[in-house]
Amino acid sequence: MKNSDPVAVIILAAGLGKRMNSPLPKVMVEADGIPMIDFVVEAARTLAPERTVVVTGHQRELVEQHLSEKFPDPSLVCAVQETQRGTGDAARAALPQLENFRGSIAILCGDVPLLTAATLQSLLDIHHRERATVSLLSVRTLYPAQYGRILRGKNREILGIREFKDCSPEERLINEINSGIYVVDSSFLPAALQQLNSNNAQGEFYLTDIVAQAVQEGQTVSCLEHFDLSEVQGVNNRLDLAESSKLLRRRRVNSLIETGVLIDDPDSVEIDRQAQVHPGARIGSHTVIKGTSIIESGAVIDGFCVIRNTTIRQGAEVHSFSFTESADIGPDSSVGPFARLREGTVLKGDNKVGNFVEIKKSTLASGAKASHLTYLGDSTVGERANIGAGTITCNYDGKNKFATQIGSDAFIGSNTSLVAPVSIGDGATTGAGSVITKDVEAGALGVSRAEQRNVPGWAARKKTAKK
Ligand code: UD1
Ligand code: CA
Repeated sequence: MKNSDPVAVIILAAGLGKRMNSPLPKVMVEADGIPMIDFVVEAARTLAPERTVVVTGHQRELVEQHLSEKFPDPSLVCAVQETQRGTGDAARAALPQLENFRGSIAILCGDVPLLTAATLQSLLDIHHRERATVSLLSVRTLYPAQYGRILRGKNREILGIREFKDCSPEERLINEINSGIYVVDSSFLPAALQQLNSNNAQGEFYLTDIVAQAVQEGQTVSCLEHFDLSEVQGVNNRLDLAESSKLLRRRRVNSLIETGVLIDDPDSVEIDRQAQVHPGARIGSHTVIKGTSIIESGAVIDGFCVIRNTTIRQGAEVHSFSFTESADIGPDSSVGPFARLREGTVLKGDNKVGNFVEIKKSTLASGAKASHLTYLGDSTVGERANIGAGTITCNYDGKNKFATQIGSDAFIGSNTSLVAPVSIGDGATTGAGSVITKDVEAGALGVSRAEQRNVPGWAARKKTAKK
């Protein structure tokens, strides 16, 4: 067989996945943020198949609708397995869709999201090179768990696959397992599936039995022995899912590192698939970057931050324990530690937002600072304005929200309450501790606090009174 032979793919995805404890059909459960089936379809597409048949059953409307929306591709079709009577029965359900197909048929499982295109291609290559009728992907592992075992003869030739539940104690010691991924010639598959029976421990039609059938018929069976169990790990329960998701995330982190992103501890950071992190950005340990965030080159995020749907521009720094959501952090700004930027926060650049500062729906023009303990909501802050510690915009009267405007070069004294709607002019100052309810014009001082009174000798008199 030549490499250019046509390829078709069957993806088995009809199972319920009881062990997942999910209301969704198993292949629709998300690994690393997208349904598991998507990974398998994407891997399959790299083989440029003439046709891909996804076998659905459990809640098939859900799976089919998802596939038609995500992969609007006429070569991707679904076939129904009405009752789940085993993987062999599922593969049989796909055959009507492949009636006129001649070539190699790759059979994959919908619950194996980590399978890579490279491994799949290697299996196909071996299949072609050895002119095999059936090729399978096996893995040698110290922990063969409940996977099917590969049975081999004296010369290591493949004899068949034995399901764990059908294995003798000795067979269970075999440490080469079946990944559930195969390439089968179209001239062999239909007849082989027709001959399956369900005389086994689970009373199911096992797809795995086609291997022994091929051997008995004297057909060539080849095997790609893989070394990485994690890549073909089937996701059968929530723990498998968590582990697979972690590996998928780790793969993405690795590829970011390869492009030149600096990541201190690749095992502890999480970066969502929609996020963009540009080469030259640096991310500290235990930081989570979610959603459609964009981290530009030269930006630095220290450890233990949560960044969601946020753009962090060149040279900006976000220090530890900060939480940002739908914010835009301008170039060379410094945020945190312990800052909270909420939706609609725009820092134009060269800003400083220090510890225990919360900002919502506010724009800080370049050079403006709020270094400590501040709440800015529904406000605009002019260039180079300085917001003193403890400043609060009182933007909410219990019913409505009101805006605060602070001009360029304004100086807001510590502990000012700005009762919105209110505006502070360019270059104006407010006295520390003031409650500002009226606009302050440009260049003026706004102060509103009781004058201080000192009472001489008060402490000593108080002591005498106590006796
Ligand atoms: C299967 C293999 C086992 C292999 C393992 C690798 C068989 C009999 N066993 O076992 O040798 O080590 O995969 O992960 O094939 N499915 C259907 N219809 C059915 C039954 C299953 O569509 O009637 C689908 C499932 O949705 C799933 C896939 O086939 O995507 C595998 O089924 P599963 O029950 O998980 O098989 P395993 O017991 O893991
Ligand atoms: Ca499985």
